[in-house]
Amino acid sequence: MIASAPGKIILFGEHAVVYGRPAIAAPVSQVRATAVVTPNEGEGVRIIAPDLDADFLLDEADQSDALVATMRQIQTAAGLARLPNLTVTVRSDIPIASGLGSGAAITAAVIRAVAGQLGLARLATDEWVSGLTYEVEKIHHGTPSGIDNTVVAYEKPVYFVRQQPRNIIETFKVKRPLRLLVADTGVRSSTKIAVGDVRRHWEAAPIQFEALFDGCGRIAAAARTAIEAGDVTAIGRLMTENQRLLVEMTVSSPELDALVAAALRAGALGAKLSGAGRGGNMIALVEDEEMETAVRQALLAANAHTVLTTTIKSRN
Ligand code: MEV
Repeated sequence: MIASAPGKIILFGEHAVVYGRPAIAAPVSQVRATAVVTPNEGEGVRIIAPDLDADFLLDEADQSDALVATMRQIQTAAGLARLPNLTVTVRSDIPIASGLGSGAAITAAVIRAVAGQLGLARLATDEWVSGLTYEVEKIHHGTPSGIDNTVVAYEKPVYFVRQQPRNIIETFKVKRPLRLLVADTGVRSSTKIAVGDVRRHWEAAPIQFEALFDGCGRIAAAARTAIEAGDVTAIGRLMTENQRLLVEMTVSSPELDALVAAALRAGALGAKLSGAGRGGNMIALVEDEEMETAVRQALLAANAHTVLTTTIKSRN
């Protein structure tokens, strides 16, 4: 049994989404995590992750490891006293700790593949894959909003609001496909630390941070309207406005600022960091091939490690 899950970008509203403001995210399907599950001859559950140099037996492993936690989530959800003998091999070409959701994608791919192998169709649905991935994200990221697991499990652009008793998860029309460059600073950064730092700032200066989160929420709502109307100029402007608020939230970095400035100087319609920030990836909106070439060159000249292009379209 084989299953995969995509990387993701946050178009609008990272961090503020943890505090109940709307955010927009989209899958990046050309980078993926893949899990292959096969039965084995009495070894128990063996997990092999060549990219992480890992090869271990579930029962002998550190039980706080994310892949172990993933298998335990499946075991609990399936109500199994023991998991059958399985070898789970995981590969990913999503760079880790770079804002592209590599952890959530690996977890989602493993859940889908193991559930498929065990014939547990219910656990392989988008809703369950997302929910179980969220449980694993909680162990490793503290207070995740739920947007990463949602976008990698559903593999659709989503408008997301964290709320009780159920999050709002809406798909929306993308009137004109959005052409985005995704550029990596090459700096690895922990989501848990960035989210924890924002929380400390919010606790120390609640009025200022609530205002920043409100600003991000208004931008995300306006961006949805602009995306539905195909107004790429407005979308770009809103991205750059969102970046200004993220700088104030302390989650940008000199490397991200340099790439955002280079993209804007080269004519991008808008640019911002994407994900938890402090490093990782930024995104720049371009209108056509000519603009794409100019912005790509500028990003590489400003020390981007990799630049990939992704197009966001409506999906059903
Ligand atoms: C990380 O991709 C997005 C954050 O808003 C954290 C979260 O939503 O869980 C920084």
